[in-house]
Amino acid sequence: MMNNKSRIYIAGHRGMVGSAIWRNLESKGYTNLIGRTSTELDLRNQQAVNTFFTEEQPDVVIDAAAKVGGILANNDYPYQFLMENLQIQNNLIDAAHQHDVKKFIFLGSSCIYPRLAPQPLKEEYLLTAALEPTNEWYAIAKIAGVKACEAIRKQYNKDFVSLMPTNLYGPHDNFDLKSSHVLPAMIRKFHEAKFKSVRTGVSEPVAVSEPVAVSEPVELWGSGTPLREFLHVDDLADAVVFAFEHQLQENLYNIGTGTDLTIKELAALIQRIVGHTGEIIWDSTKPDGTPRKLMDVSKMTNAGWKAKIGLEEGLKGTYKWFLENVDVLKEVKM
Ligand SMILES: NC(=O)c1ccc[n+]([C@@H]2O[C@H](COP(=O)([O-])OP(=O)(O)OC[C@H]3O[C@@H](n4cnc5c(N)ncnc54)[C@H](OP(=O)(O)O)[C@@H]3O)[C@@H](O)[C@H]2O)c1
Repeated sequence: MMNNKSRIYIAGHRGMVGSAIWRNLESKGYTNLIGRTSTELDLRNQQAVNTFFTEEQPDVVIDAAAKVGGILANNDYPYQFLMENLQIQNNLIDAAHQHDVKKFIFLGSSCIYPRLAPQPLKEEYLLTAALEPTNEWYAIAKIAGVKACEAIRKQYNKDFVSLMPTNLYGPHDNFDLKSSHVLPAMIRKFHEAKFKSVRTGVSEPVAVSEPVAVSEPVELWGSGTPLREFLHVDDLADAVVFAFEHQLQENLYNIGTGTDLTIKELAALIQRIVGHTGEIIWDSTKPDGTPRKLMDVSKMTNAGWKAKIGLEEGLKGTYKWFLENVDVLKEVKM
């Protein structure tokens, strides 16, 4: 039986998702949380991972460690997105199995589902058609993780479960324009265009000065027509802790809000929250990605969990966090 003394290892505890899970568990009184940075423990190294499990003997493993990035990063580094994610998750899943971990929660992403699957995406659409080519490397690694957990569950009757979050946003997101997802990239672009400061380079956080009356134009990728769903990372953390505290009956659950909006609507909302007053230029020579990606969240709703943070409320909090941390924003080095 799990209790607040259970030894819970959160792989990737410094990341956006891992840190949110850590905060949530801490707030609920769990006192035996275990974390290692990638410098302390490189999860691509199987021997190091096995030694860590022998020494720490976790009861529970939450896998929030991965090589994560947007379309550009996936497109430029296909081998790393495939291989490093396979290495990280294989080492964790197998070590957890060998060391008799009681509960394993694997985090994937909605990109595991086929590009043109019917909407909203149901869990059973997995492997029914071709993937979105821009991130298939990452998706194939994640599908392998889902199947590894399913196989352990089926063959050994262990409580290994996979949660597939939709697009996430919130504190500790990656705001580096070379590798970020669409939502944090928009926050940063609108923010930078709002001020007079001359940008010194895409990875340099801009110095905040006085906003100008009419902001610089902002250029955004694609046509703006694709539909996307966004979940606050604190809601995801809540879902993960729910999954930890309950015995879910199946191997795969979607985690989302169940509602979506167009990228243009998202841009307008962020523009208003940031206070950008300039033009938006849509660069339709850049790829749009999947036309629509909305999760069917009825399985998780039926299990007793649903999202609570509205998009506008979540975006306001995220922009506040961005402003407070603009000088120390993390950069992802590929
Ligand atoms: N962000 C999203 O929109 C989104 C959406 C759906 C699903 N997810 C899933 O959520 C999970 C976490 O994503 P995130 O957004 O939190 O990513 P993130 O902020 O980039 O964090 C990833 C974490 O993984 C760790 N990591 C990466 N490579 C490692 C290695 N070789 N050895 C040890 N640790 C390593 C990093 O550790 P260090 O900081 O110590 O280097 C980092 O803390 C992923 O599985 C992702 O698929 C994310």
